[in-house]
Amino acid sequence: MSGDDVVVRQTLVKCLIYIVSISFAVFLIKRYAKSMRQRFAAWMLNRCIGFVNKRVHKEKIRLFSSIENDRRIQILEIGAGGGANFEFYPGRSEVTCLEPNPHCKSYLEENAPADIQIKTVIQGFAENMTQLGLQDNSFDVVVCTLVLCSVKDVDRVLFEVKRVLKPGGKFYFMEHIIDDNRLVKSIQKILNPLWRRMVDGCQLIRDTPVYIQNAGFDEVKMTKFKFPYLLWPFFVKKFCFGTATKF
Ligand SMILES: C[S@@+](CC[C@H](N)C(=O)[O-])C[C@H]1O[C@@H](n2cnc3c(N)ncnc32)[C@H](O)[C@@H]1O
Repeated sequence: MSGDDVVVRQTLVKCLIYIVSISFAVFLIKRYAKSMRQRFAAWMLNRCIGFVNKRVHKEKIRLFSSIENDRRIQILEIGAGGGANFEFYPGRSEVTCLEPNPHCKSYLEENAPADIQIKTVIQGFAENMTQLGLQDNSFDVVVCTLVLCSVKDVDRVLFEVKRVLKPGGKFYFMEHIIDDNRLVKSIQKILNPLWRRMVDGCQLIRDTPVYIQNAGFDEVKMTKFKFPYLLWPFFVKKFCFGTATKF
């Protein structure tokens, strides 16, 4: 074999090694990227609970204080994250958590106060509550905070919320929403495509109050407020919280 042949052969072997290594790296990234992203999101949500709850403590107390506490209340929390709302639930509540991110389960179990019972953590999307086996008229309360901004089909989620609520049951919500100010709204519209990609489908321009008003609940009570923290991005400051009752 001539010297040239040896050089060609070595170059070919090197190329082959590069191609196999790069393909393997791409395979690993594709295989594990989703899981790593979800793991990070669950960790981040858990880390943020204290910060957010401190800022909206007054609003959450006002919101959740109307949950009856004279009996064992059946609560369904959709998009439960790390369990940011558990501390506001009455003692003896029995909580079913629905959460698509499987890495949230351990945080939900860890963060549950001793006096409430986590009945089950269901992995899935709120749009699919029928397929997930959640029965009609089975919950006293459905809770959803900072979730409707990122669900794929708000109307479907609200339909499912109404379906699983018992007659007289209440939907408790707190969401960030499209701003009333025209300039901020325009900025939200410009930023929305990028924000949506970066923040797990979260929409800056969702008019959640209108969706809730039009969802066919018998009574809707809603308050709008600004997230009370100076350094919070101005284009995510408008919030609403309230209840919607199914009679
Ligand atoms: C911003 S976090 C809020 C978590 C928690 N509710 C809180 O207030 O801290 C949004 C959560 O909604 C979940 N989520 C996103 N789309 C959902 C859907 N279609 N159905 C149910 N949960 C969803 C995400 O996995 C995430 O845990």
